Amino acid sequence: MSDQNAKLWGGRFQEPTDAFVERFTASVGFDRRLYRQDIAGSIAHATMLCKVGVLSQEERDAIVDGLAGIRDEIERGEFEWSVAREDVHMNIEARLTERIGATGKKLHTGRSRNDQVATDIRLWLRDEIDVLDAELLRLATGLLDQADVHADTIMPGFTHLQTAQPVTFGHHLLAYFEMLMRDRARLADCRGRVNVLPLGSAALAGTTFPLDRALTAELLGFDSVAENSLDAVSDRDFAIEFAAWASTTMIHLSRFSEELVLWSSAQFGFIELPDRFCTGSSIMPQKKNPDVPELVRGKTGRVVGHLNALLMLMKSQPLAYNKDNQEDKEPLFDLVDTLRDCLKAYADMVPAIVADKPAMRAAAVRGYATATDLADYLVRRNIAFRDAHEAVGQAVAHAVAANCDLAELPLATLQGFAPVIEADVYEVLTPEGSVAARSHFGGTAPEQVRAAVIRGRARLSNAADE
Ligand code: ARG
Repeated sequence: MSDQNAKLWGGRFQEPTDAFVERFTASVGFDRRLYRQDIAGSIAHATMLCKVGVLSQEERDAIVDGLAGIRDEIERGEFEWSVAREDVHMNIEARLTERIGATGKKLHTGRSRNDQVATDIRLWLRDEIDVLDAELLRLATGLLDQADVHADTIMPGFTHLQTAQPVTFGHHLLAYFEMLMRDRARLADCRGRVNVLPLGSAALAGTTFPLDRALTAELLGFDSVAENSLDAVSDRDFAIEFAAWASTTMIHLSRFSEELVLWSSAQFGFIELPDRFCTGSSIMPQKKNPDVPELVRGKTGRVVGHLNALLMLMKSQPLAYNKDNQEDKEPLFDLVDTLRDCLKAYADMVPAIVADKPAMRAAAVRGYATATDLADYLVRRNIAFRDAHEAVGQAVAHAVAANCDLAELPLATLQGFAPVIEADVYEVLTPEGSVAARSHFGGTAPEQVRAAVIRGRARLSNAADE
């Protein structure tokens, strides 16, 4: 049996809460993580209540003082969290009254836990978004630096995971830079909808007190005040949106992870991941496993799962607040923790990736990656593309049978497939010639990659970009 005196809502109850139900309904085990936002929100609320004449200056000061003392207790690890007090909000409020006496009971005037919790999570998420964006920026910078170093490093480009055309490694890395730039833009957009103040909506219908919600918003750094009290206490779109951002970002990291895992295998041998990002096998002495990319790839499932959890949490919920919403916190917390770790791992690891340039180039040469260049060469000599495609196809079949590369076929043999071929054909058959020829905005030519890196740096330093 629980101590019913601990309940701030105990007045209308005839029997104590069942001990199991008390544990089942409590959220303090996880929402205590919001203590700093809860206290900041309460200080702003009390300050506003004083400004509009609902609290006296002495009452406001006692409350603010008491709350600051509680924050210290929590940070020193001396605060006794109580399951009987259900959640972070009632733990802190009850402790305030213990500390400062009856004045503590006035703090909840014109407020409900419904608008309080919505305010706390939004404050918390807003600050976490800024931390996540800093990691995105660090990773994007690392990609630009590597792209610059590898602006003319040749590798095979793939479609269907079959060798397609030569590309530069820098160009390949810049593809991930573009994904990250979109992720940053989406996160900034999401932040705008997170940073809206629900407080003042009270339980659902607003309050009879003359609150100054604009003042509370200003004190807490919110961009705007929620327009509709019913919506404000029940809206979790901002959490869903954040989870969708997190999922999209993780999908990008999972694609990169998959490539790093493949590239670091003996079969590809394109890159070496630093030892400090890998682990060994307890049975196979030769193994060096790319655990970090593998784990990031795996955590993508968990992140997308949280998105689904939040969507289903909201499905068919009638207005306004429902206890279901208490279930928003654990997925949100885990999303933030997971994204922060994965982005940190990548931001630390990307600058340390070492490319094996000869192995990458050899792979580009092996797969007939310049066949399209030969076809384009024929087109420039007035052969229709379809006919050129056919002629080159036959040349490739011949080279496959001869177990050699196109560039290794003698001129006379090549001329057997298309008489217009001349000695200058060998320039387009090299991967260097192939990438250099794709020199237009967005192309893989080294000079284009260098230009894209310069534009990328300007985009990063311009905070208002995208
Ligand atoms: N712990 C609750 C939550 O996380 C706080 C709001 C509770 N409101 C209520 N009316 N029971 O959602």
